[in-house]
Amino acid sequence: MADRADPHALYEKSVQSSEHDFSFLTEYVENATGRPLRVLREDFCGTAALSAYFVTQHSDNRAIGVDLDWPTLNWGVKHNVSGLTLNQQQRINLIHGNVLDGHSSEAQLTVAMNFSYMVFKTRSTLLCYFKRAKASLVPGGLFIMDSWGGSESQVLQEESREIENPDDDGIGDFVFIWDQDAFDPITYHCTARIHFAFQDDSELRNAFVYDWRMWTIPEVTELLQEAGFQDVHVLWEGTDPDTNEGTGTYHRARKGDADLAWIAYIVGVNPGKGSVSKRALKGNRK
Ligand SMILES: C[S@@+](CC[C@H](N)C(=O)[O-])C[C@H]1O[C@@H](n2cnc3c(N)ncnc32)[C@H](O)[C@@H]1O
Repeated sequence: MADRADPHALYEKSVQSSEHDFSFLTEYVENATGRPLRVLREDFCGTAALSAYFVTQHSDNRAIGVDLDWPTLNWGVKHNVSGLTLNQQQRINLIHGNVLDGHSSEAQLTVAMNFSYMVFKTRSTLLCYFKRAKASLVPGGLFIMDSWGGSESQVLQEESREIENPDDDGIGDFVFIWDQDAFDPITYHCTARIHFAFQDDSELRNAFVYDWRMWTIPEVTELLQEAGFQDVHVLWEGTDPDTNEGTGTYHRARKGDADLAWIAYIVGVNPGKGSVSKRALKGNRK
């Protein structure tokens, strides 16, 4: 099974939920800006799952996805984009490039999901990226990224999660393994690995390996402000008072709980009171 399995398909099934991200992001942008989200930029888009889903949700929706890795992008074209209608395909622009380079877009929202910006290990490189993210937005546009931390995020451990896989792909249910393999308290550099285990006891080890710097929320918020973002704020997960578990809903917060492991969102606003230009709505295809 490990030999037959497709790592990108397994990743999408176990790590991503485009439907969930779509509803969370569209609702947040509409509430924050008073406008429906029509132009999304997905930095570090990988297989462009979110961008491809986004253009199916409204006939005016446009998406720009940027990723450095051609085989990953190409997988996305084959599996996520080619099945879209021609009209939907015309509203998605995938750029094979580095997010540190200027790729023009007039996005209402730019996202960097699944901690992808942690690939940048120095203050100056992360600041450069945040400046590029700001330049990708219309005035008044939002930049949202997720953040991960808590004392358990520094513990070297493997965590397994069972994934239901109803698809007829010959793989069946499988196990997703998140392996926190290295953490250096001096540099905050860390290595995380994703492995998959199957019902026939075979394993796909190191399907994905991430060498990151684990940035803290205050480091990120300070750099966002330095890059020129305004109203930089954090969305923290609510806690169910009965179970003490996370509610899965996120609210603007100034103070968080010392949870062992948490995921939060960090938001920056591009200054200005803009609207989406006609050019952006028509697209920026190359
Ligand atoms: C953790 S994956 C995230 C994929 C997807 N966005 C998600 O939410 O699951 C990180 C992606 O960032 C891409 N990447 C890494 N460095 C990059 C850079 N400097 N510019 C653009 N993409 C980059 C990698 O090729 C990879 O596809």
